[in-house]
Amino acid sequence: MTAQQTELRVLPSDLKRELLPRHVAVIMDGNGRWARHRGLPRIMGHKRGVDALKALLRTCDDWGIESLTAYAFSTENWKRPAEEVDFLMSLFQVVLRQELRDMMKENVRIKFAGNLKALPPSLQEEIQKAMEETQNNRGIQFTVATNYGGREEILSACRAIAQQVKDGLLEPDEIDEEVFERHLYTAGIEDPDLLIRTSGEMRISNFLLWQIAYTEIYVTDVFWPDFDRNQFHQALSSYQQRSRRFGKI
Ligand code: FPP
Repeated sequence: MTAQQTELRVLPSDLKRELLPRHVAVIMDGNGRWARHRGLPRIMGHKRGVDALKALLRTCDDWGIESLTAYAFSTENWKRPAEEVDFLMSLFQVVLRQELRDMMKENVRIKFAGNLKALPPSLQEEIQKAMEETQNNRGIQFTVATNYGGREEILSACRAIAQQVKDGLLEPDEIDEEVFERHLYTAGIEDPDLLIRTSGEMRISNFLLWQIAYTEIYVTDVFWPDFDRNQFHQALSSYQQRSRRFGKI
């Protein structure tokens, strides 16, 4: 590794290690517009989006961030043209297969959050394999929200809890935040400290509705494929200026 490459792996000196977010979530928006601005097909934007995500995962790991969650496919994304949906499904599968060895080497623990049963069976198999193989890794937690919808997640938790009450295993009074969180797709993963959305839209788009109650939000106009280490540095600088009060004064 060259001296310059080594330097890039070190946390920039103006960022304070003790004020880093432990968990960063990203809404990777703008792949289509990135491609359109270059006269390219939308799928090229998604391909470059994968590169940006891989780079961000590595940067998070290098800089000591414990957990990264990325919104890859929402429950609403099925409404896109069939060829784009098919492309995204096969992209997830190919990338997962290609990257598993590197994730093992880099000690990444991967988890998929969402209604996975509706995904193509071959992708489901790849997902199960990746989650099982990496489950004992102790490096960064990488969560990919796939066929994920915040409302759907809350409803499915409600259904599971209601069934337990019906079966006499749980009293309604025992349903607290801890019980509820155990039934979310993100069970066992701490809430994000920082949520980044690219391409300028000021909305949440059904992402992590329960989990972002006290998350700091950072929106940048940059399209996702252009979200690089410098952009992330800016997001972290902004985060470090915030005063997180969690409802206190
Ligand atoms: C939003 O841009 C992006 C998506 C819906 C897909 C995101 C997926 C990836 C970056 C691939 C991730 C890969 C793995 C393996 C996790 P958009 O298409 O909505 O852009 P637009 O708003 O400009 O049209």
